[in-house]
Amino acid sequence: MGDLLEVKASAPAKTILFGEHFVVYGEPALVLAIDNRAYASAKIRADQRIYIKSPSMGFSGFFERESFQAEHGGEEARVKLEPIKIVVQKVLDLSKKETGVNVEVSSSIPVAAGLGSSAAVAASVAAAVGQLFNIKLSKEEIFQVAFEAERFVHGTPSGIDPAVSTYGGVLLFYKDKGFTGIDVEEDIPLVIGYTGVERSTGELVARVREGWERYPSIFNRIFKTGGKVVLRAVRALNTGDFRALGELMNINHELLCAVGVSDESLEKLVYVARKAGALGAKLTGAGGGGCMIALSLPEQQEQVVKAIERAGGTAFIARKTEEGVRIER
Ligand code: PMV
Repeated sequence: MGDLLEVKASAPAKTILFGEHFVVYGEPALVLAIDNRAYASAKIRADQRIYIKSPSMGFSGFFERESFQAEHGGEEARVKLEPIKIVVQKVLDLSKKETGVNVEVSSSIPVAAGLGSSAAVAASVAAAVGQLFNIKLSKEEIFQVAFEAERFVHGTPSGIDPAVSTYGGVLLFYKDKGFTGIDVEEDIPLVIGYTGVERSTGELVARVREGWERYPSIFNRIFKTGGKVVLRAVRALNTGDFRALGELMNINHELLCAVGVSDESLEKLVYVARKAGALGAKLTGAGGGGCMIALSLPEQQEQVVKAIERAGGTAFIARKTEEGVRIER
């Protein structure tokens, strides 16, 4: 009767509070899981195919060994669904099962926006398929599987997205030294603004690398300063000093401008948010479009949301979540 069983899991999106890009060069980054989740459901199939459906992206199709047959979305479906297939295949290998699976993913997290939607999807798929086959995947295993799918998508990611989608909460993250959870009792009141501009994390990481190769001693100093901003922000979080946190966000944003990853769409939203009363605002993630975040106390949040929307962005209030990947039922 196992084929009737359907398992659902979910994992949170993330926002980088401080330290994106500089983290690639060994500096720390501070990242937060937000209560906007991706969901995955998994069901056993009678044959050996892996069927993946993503109604929110408009793609679906079947993988069988090396071949792919699109149901919706043509050849692009293969590109978009392949990372999910990698996750499913990895978990099937771990479970030593040779059966097919139906996987459906859904998410309200904007894609290619810097909110870690692909990692949240990957972590939720790993958990759902693991549970379906009754193998008790540890969080570390889920993280590793999701990280593998991220490598396929982004080339050389730092691993920040799968870490926070898996573990939740607030993480201080080092590319080579791993991460530690930071206890933050209070909420971190944020408004997230989406420019509507999709961008490629890989291209922006490459842009910073080019700048670093041209001006190594200048860029190295910017990266180091970025690392100091992150550690100072941890102190501000520990003492609940939101004023300092906002100021540090502004400094971090200007450092990101200096390495060339802001753009007009982000600048507009960052400035209107500050003007509407945010304590600080910065781009988040790779930049070049995507999203920005504004630290705004609850009484200012509505104003900040409206200002961002008047400037042409989409905005929502984000809350911290302690819950990483979880089984829904
Ligand atoms: O755009 P996002 O959210 O995928 O963030 C990328 C963060 C970078 O530091 C720019 C790259 C990385 O792998 O850490």
